Amino acid sequence: MLRVVAPDQLRLVDGTGSEHAIHPLWLRERCRDAASMDLKTQQRLQDPSDYDLNLTITAISQPTPGSYRIRFSDGHEASFDAAEILSEATLAPNSHDCPAVRLWDSSLTDLPRMRWRADPADAELAAWLEAFLTFGFVIFEGVPSAPGSVLKVATLFGFTRETNFGALFDVRSTPEATDLAYTSVPLDPHTDNPYRSPVPGIQLLHCLINQTSGGLSTLVDGFAVAQELRRQNPAAFEVLSTTPVRFKYLDAHTELTASAPPIQLDVCGALQAIHFSPRLDFVPLFAPERLDAYFRARRLFDQRLRAAAFEIRFLLKSGDLVMFDNCRLLHGRTGFDPGEGLRHLQGCYIDSDGPRSLYRVLRRRLGHAAMARRSA
Ligand SMILES: [Fe+2]
Repeated sequence: MLRVVAPDQLRLVDGTGSEHAIHPLWLRERCRDAASMDLKTQQRLQDPSDYDLNLTITAISQPTPGSYRIRFSDGHEASFDAAEILSEATLAPNSHDCPAVRLWDSSLTDLPRMRWRADPADAELAAWLEAFLTFGFVIFEGVPSAPGSVLKVATLFGFTRETNFGALFDVRSTPEATDLAYTSVPLDPHTDNPYRSPVPGIQLLHCLINQTSGGLSTLVDGFAVAQELRRQNPAAFEVLSTTPVRFKYLDAHTELTASAPPIQLDVCGALQAIHFSPRLDFVPLFAPERLDAYFRARRLFDQRLRAAAFEIRFLLKSGDLVMFDNCRLLHGRTGFDPGEGLRHLQGCYIDSDGPRSLYRVLRRRLGHAAMARRSA
């Protein structure tokens, strides 16, 4: 709740009863009136750096319950909705207001499987997005097994991220493969394209046909593994979150390179992304002791990433499509015998923010209460 503690001081009282001061400039930047912002776009009309750094609140009134009228020392006066201030003020510094991540390991047996529909109702689409944002992946069943369908599914959730592999890529064994993904060898858990900047946020893989008994798809929750490493071996975690690793890709027409730590943290120290592809990583020449620590830490991380305790496996059948967070999950594949028959997948990428934007739009459309009920 909000509390007026003095004629010029508004405070936030959190669930534990602790009080937090609200900075006058923090509030001034949030004035939502026609003089302060363009009401249609909600973009500011002034550069807030020009506001008086010594700005104060000069008067507070409460014309109706839940609404405050505030006058500032620069003469500006604005109304604030208490619920809006509260929801903004209580967001964690690094929260972008989406469903919380639920870490998982191999004990996850109830996989988030959804029946695909090209024109889902808002509530159904919101349920898909909640599952995706929570688990980092979702498996759609019944996607038409026509070539190019993966792009139609991608379009529902975001904009296709085209790369040098094209708008979509075909995954099948070919005799002259330029990437191990296009052979029949097993693929250990990895994140895709760490050599790009930015890394493709989300991958979609659609199975057009699978006549082989092997070639199971594997997924690992990289955040769950990193979290365990952080708990069991904080020093190794520290090394992996602070060592820049160069990732490289090259073919006749392309040469890509980007640097990132295997475990990337945000400014608050929370997990932000995993960059792990042991066939493409090249650590710079640091001092031998630092490299010793890095190689040991990488082994500890890799051993956990490949451990059965963290991995789930499933067979993608014709019409199945898995959409997963390429910054959180690692994916792989068991080996298969191409002699058994055809195996053909098509994949594409979209950016991470597409599903999150759609989720917020749906929440606005459906109402916060309906969304909260469904996540409960
Ligand atoms: Fe891959």
